[in-house]
Amino acid sequence: MEFEKLINERRSVRKYAEGVSIEKSDVEKIIAAAQMAPSWKNSQTGRYYVAISPEKLAQVREALPEFNRNNSHNAPVLVVTAFEKGNAGFMPDGSQVNELGDMWGAYDLGLQNAYFVLKARELGYDTLIMGIRDEKALKAAFDIPENQQVTSVMALGKRAADPNAPKRKEISDIAVFG
Ligand SMILES: Cc1cc2nc3c(=O)[nH]c(=O)nc-3n(C[C@H](O)[C@H](O)[C@H](O)COP(=O)(O)O)c2cc1C
Repeated sequence: MEFEKLINERRSVRKYAEGVSIEKSDVEKIIAAAQMAPSWKNSQTGRYYVAISPEKLAQVREALPEFNRNNSHNAPVLVVTAFEKGNAGFMPDGSQVNELGDMWGAYDLGLQNAYFVLKARELGYDTLIMGIRDEKALKAAFDIPENQQVTSVMALGKRAADPNAPKRKEISDIAVFG
């Protein structure tokens, strides 16, 4: 799909069609695309915990507040994203390279997640990134190790209705040219 069309079609979808299933192989393609994003010293610290079985889906849904549970209702896959702490943005001796520290891990994961949502759209799926979630419950659901920071839960499914396209700021509001 042409890039401009892809980025315009990608929207946060909060109403998912019933009865859709997604093959594990499609989720793997989406994660493989995410993995192609640049990362600090190619450290690739993004991690993906894919709830695709009814049991895991129920556990991850439990870790969402009601509004996000409703927003992602019927989504057949929920992906918990995390990154390994103390790696991107750190020296081999464990010291921070600069003031951002683990924010570089979050930065890298954000880049990966952007590729994730775009690849999903290219394959005909829709997504919702959910930052409001219960980290402890997600860590327990997948036994996520202490040295990983959970970030978002991403819903993956197919839109049941055309989503809104929230307006963006003007370039002059966000960019400075010197
Ligand atoms: C880090 C992050 C966290 C978000 N958390 C939530 C959330 O918890 N619930 C939700 O409905 N939308 C969430 N969103 C979606 C944003 O509201 C949405 O991306 C924004 O309004 C722009 O709309 P668009 O994605 O359709 O372009 C989140 C997006 C990002 C990037």
